[in-house]
Amino acid sequence: MKTILVTGGTGYIGSHTVVELQSKGYEVIIADNLANSSADVVDRIEKITGIRPVFIKADLSKEQEAAAIFDTHHIDGIINFAAYKAVGESCEKPIEYYQNNLQIALNMLANMKRMGIQYFVQSSSCTVYGEPKHNPINEDCPTMPATSPYGNTKQMVEEILHFVTKSGDIKAIALRYFNPIGAHHTALIGELPNGIPNNLIPYITQTAAGLRQQLTVFGNDYPTPDGTCIRDYIHVVDLAKAHVVAMDRCFENRNKSNLEYFNIGTGNGFSVLDIIRSFEKVSGVKLNYCFGKRREGDVVQIWADTTLAEKELGWKAELSLDQMTLSAWHWQQQLQ
Ligand code: UFG
Repeated sequence: MKTILVTGGTGYIGSHTVVELQSKGYEVIIADNLANSSADVVDRIEKITGIRPVFIKADLSKEQEAAAIFDTHHIDGIINFAAYKAVGESCEKPIEYYQNNLQIALNMLANMKRMGIQYFVQSSSCTVYGEPKHNPINEDCPTMPATSPYGNTKQMVEEILHFVTKSGDIKAIALRYFNPIGAHHTALIGELPNGIPNNLIPYITQTAAGLRQQLTVFGNDYPTPDGTCIRDYIHVVDLAKAHVVAMDRCFENRNKSNLEYFNIGTGNGFSVLDIIRSFEKVSGVKLNYCFGKRREGDVVQIWADTTLAEKELGWKAELSLDQMTLSAWHWQQQLQ
């Protein structure tokens, strides 16, 4: 069986992906510095799957720490989640974001070359598209200048992959996620935001749980049907499964080029008010919210054309918006 190194594997998307990889028979090594996650996620993964992944606490942005993992473990492929990910923070600490996110990717690629490891799946983002001229957006749409250092690191890693994969000894797949939300149905793993959440769903669930007083909806004067921004929210478990099929594609030698890009969304756009309504329906909780000013840097609307992922990966999101908001609520409830 193949062994996958999952960087950032105790994080939100990483942990769900480890579960899906193990359930498909992959062996998993997690490497994570626990900067934004907790070691007990490894226990929780074991509780779900009955298999304990190998866990290595390491700062992968450090050359020696990264190299030591490859020197001591057999690895067939890498899924690279490890990165700083807060858009706002990245504007305050751009250098740290570039150092960390780029160095981790480069260290992984350098060790792949050194050890002859062929396959790399990169956690990318729809943020590379900027504000789309039309929706749904497909992978051929040109990428736009990033609006934050975080987004820029996602673009830059894609660009690095473009050249690194040219010679063909490394094959990579960049998965461009839309808005991952929700949690595993066991409520054993989910998103653990640090401090005051920036993202919509944890803000909603924390408000409903009484930890925050009120949600502010950032802008209701956008040119959308209800005036609030539209996103393509995708259940994190569906997203996790996309990584498994991307890895399968590599090992079955089905890659059509050395670097492939796939949109990973549902293909549906929902407004902020749609999300609030879904949450209120599934939870039975009336949410305290108000309308505030637009948030700087927000795109108005974006949702995915997922035709390519369906055709090439044989993957399609299956879980509904209500399943997303309900699982997020169950996760929030068990946190208290
Ligand atoms: N929103 C609110 N109130 C809040 C938080 C969010 O109204 O308190 C709104 C935002 O304005 C936006 C929508 O909810 O319209 C979604 O916002 P999120 O912060 O949850 O998600 P974003 O679409 O801004 O960001 C996500 C990821 C980023 C990624 C980006 C790419 O979190 O990592 O998509 O577009 F870069």
